[in-house]
Amino acid sequence: METQTLIRTDKLGRAKCEHCDVMLEVSEFHVFEEIQCPECGKTTTVPGKLGDYYLMRELGRGGMGAVYLARDAHLERKVALKVLNAKFGRDPSFVDALLSEAKAAAALNHKNIVHIYSFGQVYEQPYFVMEYVEGIHLDECINPGEAQNEEGWLGIMAQVTKGLILSEEVGLIHGDIKPANILLNEQGLAKLSDFGIARFGGDQEDRILGTPLYIAPEKSRGKKFDARSDQFSLGATFWHILTGQPPFFGKTSREVVLHRFEIPTPDPRQHAPHLSKATATMLMRMMAVDPEERFPDFQAVRERIQKILNRFEENRKKKALEEEEAEKARLAAEEALNQKKRMKKRLGMVACGIGVLVALGALLVFWI
Ligand SMILES: Nc1ncnc2c1ncn2[C@@H]1O[C@H](COP(=O)(O)OP(=O)(O)O)[C@@H](O)[C@H]1O
Ligand SMILES: [Mg+2]
Repeated sequence: METQTLIRTDKLGRAKCEHCDVMLEVSEFHVFEEIQCPECGKTTTVPGKLGDYYLMRELGRGGMGAVYLARDAHLERKVALKVLNAKFGRDPSFVDALLSEAKAAAALNHKNIVHIYSFGQVYEQPYFVMEYVEGIHLDECINPGEAQNEEGWLGIMAQVTKGLILSEEVGLIHGDIKPANILLNEQGLAKLSDFGIARFGGDQEDRILGTPLYIAPEKSRGKKFDARSDQFSLGATFWHILTGQPPFFGKTSREVVLHRFEIPTPDPRQHAPHLSKATATMLMRMMAVDPEERFPDFQAVRERIQKILNRFEENRKKKALEEEEAEKARLAAEEALNQKKRMKKRLGMVACGIGVLVALGALLVFWI
């Protein structure tokens, strides 16, 4: 049994090298220790075992525990394992609530939602087996002071919204939409993770509130919340990404949450002046304090994003057409200029010929 890592795993006597699949003697090493494979010479990590999964390395930590890259011992595919602290597992009512949310979320089958494959508990630690997304999460894409590719981000937002249309249809609420829960793979495919389960993390206050930067006002006041609360969080998430600044400020979580009641929904163009008015207006509407003033549902959000994206496409086509016309005009002008030059040259030659003839004529007259 291994206790060196954040979580408790089983220690292995022998394990495969990650690169050449050769079996190595690893009993003397700690879980996640990096060793050199004597066969291929490459560095490989000593895995730990949790249930039917070999844990390869930690992918990141959150409020509830940590997420690991793991390999399914039977199917041999890579998965992401979210392992919660044992203290959560000791509370049966918590585990029941978590499991019932996970069951509902596992039924969501959409390419823009991280799939939950399974759930288990080992050494009191509850864990989720999820689809592994190789890439980055959007928290890593927040760059204060750098102009953002508005059209590109709107495309990513549209993908996430597609997943949310499905969850809204089946009456599921994410509960903690934030940049860290949107994963982006190398092919540009965006996936929303932690559906329904994220809000179980952190301390008591965090569990009620979700992430203070993005939480919907009605949720922070403990009032009834619905898919429009997810809409607020999605708006605040992309407000942050597109401007590089969080929409609300404060020294404590409480102050950050209160800030949204004290000021009108801030215009993102304060920080990102190049952002289109259409995108700024859409984000501000998604982040209205009163849910009734937001878009009625995610379908309406999706349509608005598409409308803005179509405008980008139209502008691009218009610009391409203008450029094509400008190029044609330039070619025509060049041709006209060349023609003029050729004409001038010809006239010059004719004049020269006449000059020679006159000179020859004069010579002839003189000779006669
Ligand atoms: N399905 C997944 N595939 C790949 N990486 C993941 C997956 N889920 C989570 N991660 C990584 O693990 C980190 C920790 O996740 P999590 O515990 O949900 O905390 P948070 O969402 O607050 O960042 C994430 O930031 C992300 O980098
Ligand atoms: Mg997460």
